[in-house]
Amino acid sequence: MSIYEPREDSYLLQKLVKLETKTTDKVLDMGTGSGIQAKTAYEITKDVKAVDINPECLNINNIKTIQSDLFNNIQESYDLIIFNPPYLPEDPNEPKDSALATTGGKEGHEIIQSFLKQAKQHLNKNGRILLLYSSLSGKIEKIAKDYNIEQLAEESHFMEKLYVSKLTPKSL
Ligand SMILES: C[S@@+](CC[C@H](N)C(=O)[O-])C[C@H]1O[C@@H](n2cnc3c(N)ncnc32)[C@H](O)[C@@H]1O
Repeated sequence: MSIYEPREDSYLLQKLVKLETKTTDKVLDMGTGSGIQAKTAYEITKDVKAVDINPECLNINNIKTIQSDLFNNIQESYDLIIFNPPYLPEDPNEPKDSALATTGGKEGHEIIQSFLKQAKQHLNKNGRILLLYSSLSGKIEKIAKDYNIEQLAEESHFMEKLYVSKLTPKSL
């Protein structure tokens, strides 16, 4: 399985990771890929763990990395969870190799929904999520009903708009 090379979505999220990470944060980078978000957070706090389902992504200098399908192999809780998920609707022509990093399910938002369902149990008090998503993934208000949503960034591209939002669970 190839590793997702950083693209415009990665760079947009990276800007927010730089702004939002605090020196005291314990951070989890979900779907770390090349490790771009984990490495950016690591410049601010050394307490960073990276996760990916793809075993090829597990070699990031200095940063503890775990192979896991979302939170299946994660027991701990975090102050900041970062996720640039696979968010595109299924395309039968997309090769399996790249689909792992790009396809979020039939509608595009299924992986984000599973992630958000599990993420609540892995957030410390006042913990927050930095989530990248696209106009192609569907309306975030519908996908993240259990969360307060603060949109931090928006960027227009040829086929889509990209967004970064800060999410905090409504029930915490
Ligand atoms: C769009 S890429 C983002 C990579 C990197 N974080 C970035 O910002 O460039 C999505 C990443 O999520 C990983 N991924 C896909 N499904 C996953 C799952 N169920 N659990 C954990 N990681 C997953 C992919 O292998 C890929 O590395």
